[in-house]
Amino acid sequence: MNAIGMFGLGVMGANLALNMANQGEKVAVYNYTSDLTDAFQEKHPHENITAYYELADFIQSLEKPRKIFLMVTAGTVVDSVIESLVPLLDQGDIIMDGGNSNFQDSNRRYHDLKEKGFHFIGVGVSGGEEGALNGPALMPSGDKAAYQHVAPILEKIAAQVDGKPCCSYLGKEGAGHYVKMVHNGIEYADMQLITEAYQFLRERLGLDVHEIAAIFTEWNKGELESYLMEITADILTRVDEETNQPMVDVILDKSEQKGTGKWTSQNALDMGVPLTIVTESVFMRFLSNVKEERMTAEKELAGPDSLLEQADKDEWIELVRQALFMGKISTYAQGFYQYKQASEQYGWDLQLDDIALIFRGGCIIRAGILNEISSAFQADKTLSNLFLSPYFKTILNTYQNAMRKVVIKGMETGLALPCFNASLVYYDGYRSGKSGANLIQAQRDYFGAHTLERIDKEGHVHIEW
Ligand code: 6PG
Repeated sequence: MNAIGMFGLGVMGANLALNMANQGEKVAVYNYTSDLTDAFQEKHPHENITAYYELADFIQSLEKPRKIFLMVTAGTVVDSVIESLVPLLDQGDIIMDGGNSNFQDSNRRYHDLKEKGFHFIGVGVSGGEEGALNGPALMPSGDKAAYQHVAPILEKIAAQVDGKPCCSYLGKEGAGHYVKMVHNGIEYADMQLITEAYQFLRERLGLDVHEIAAIFTEWNKGELESYLMEITADILTRVDEETNQPMVDVILDKSEQKGTGKWTSQNALDMGVPLTIVTESVFMRFLSNVKEERMTAEKELAGPDSLLEQADKDEWIELVRQALFMGKISTYAQGFYQYKQASEQYGWDLQLDDIALIFRGGCIIRAGILNEISSAFQADKTLSNLFLSPYFKTILNTYQNAMRKVVIKGMETGLALPCFNASLVYYDGYRSGKSGANLIQAQRDYFGAHTLERIDKEGHVHIEW
């Protein structure tokens, strides 16, 4: 009998199946079309893997409760696959979905399957092809009892950091896909922040690509250590063989997206939490896509575009490093704040320290900073915002000076630094004991009699303006 079945043999499904098999699990594999199954068998013959061409045979080959891992295109395909599986399953069997599914779909699937006597476990999977094969970060959710059946396999195939798997049970319903969604939002922001640091160094300090690659390699040894920093340094060393230009210079500056960053921002709006840095990064992807318009506007609209004159390069490089780290801290602060609110609003009891531990290995946003984030939430389970943890507070109190200098210089010289700027605006807004919202309340009450609260009395009142 096989311990687990992998449904879907695209690159991610194939690599996850191989990972399971390499860990000693007997794996059944199946794909909706036989061509991928043939190709998989030819390319990856493995003693622990058996391929099936009939869905019924695939299902019958599994130990009970059956564990079926879906790695198919997120969206309606997941529903039709589940529909085809259900008649072949027994009560108590477990369907896992490892795609980038919308957490609301996972909520629905969890309840639908539960009503029918089956278990649904949504599993956020991060780490791309390489991670899937050698150890991804996994974010599972569903019924805790059902999770116990799949935990030995999931925790074995996940990346391991300090002897701990980057996989742990996160909560009910679609909590796992929710955690993965916000992970992707953070990924978008992290990428944009690194890009802004790169643009400042290149277009305002006048450094060349190879100098920046060396700087990023150096930064990656300190506070900014992360997978994205590492790959960006590597990208900047690459040269296009055809043109002998830096590879980054021959790539069209329009960035695509599959939508998970946008979902994260949409959810932040739905929940009423500020997620400005991720949202700016999503908007910058949209803005990048109007290339032709931007090319026209470049000629039509004036700006002070210029290099920094007589700049002390080393001093500015350090300022940009500090600004980048502050941007990263702010992104995590907002992302984890969103987790906290979601946990309360959806009743999931998300453990923020555990989420940070999962992110330490295998996933795209893995970074040194996650140890500190986990410690901060472990030390204070009621911590509302990372900004107020002793470790991050100390850094921010210093690095905000650097961020101001970089943002001001960007503005002065006409370089858009939306995520750096959003990070500083959030910082200044958050540390303002007195906001301007009293005036907004006055305006609302003036034109619409919406009522307001006074500082010296309880309850809502209307002022006769
Ligand atoms: C991961 C990634 C991955 C995501 C890609 C593409 O954690 O492995 O987040 O799940 O799909 O990074 O995302 P975009 O196409 O939206 O940039």
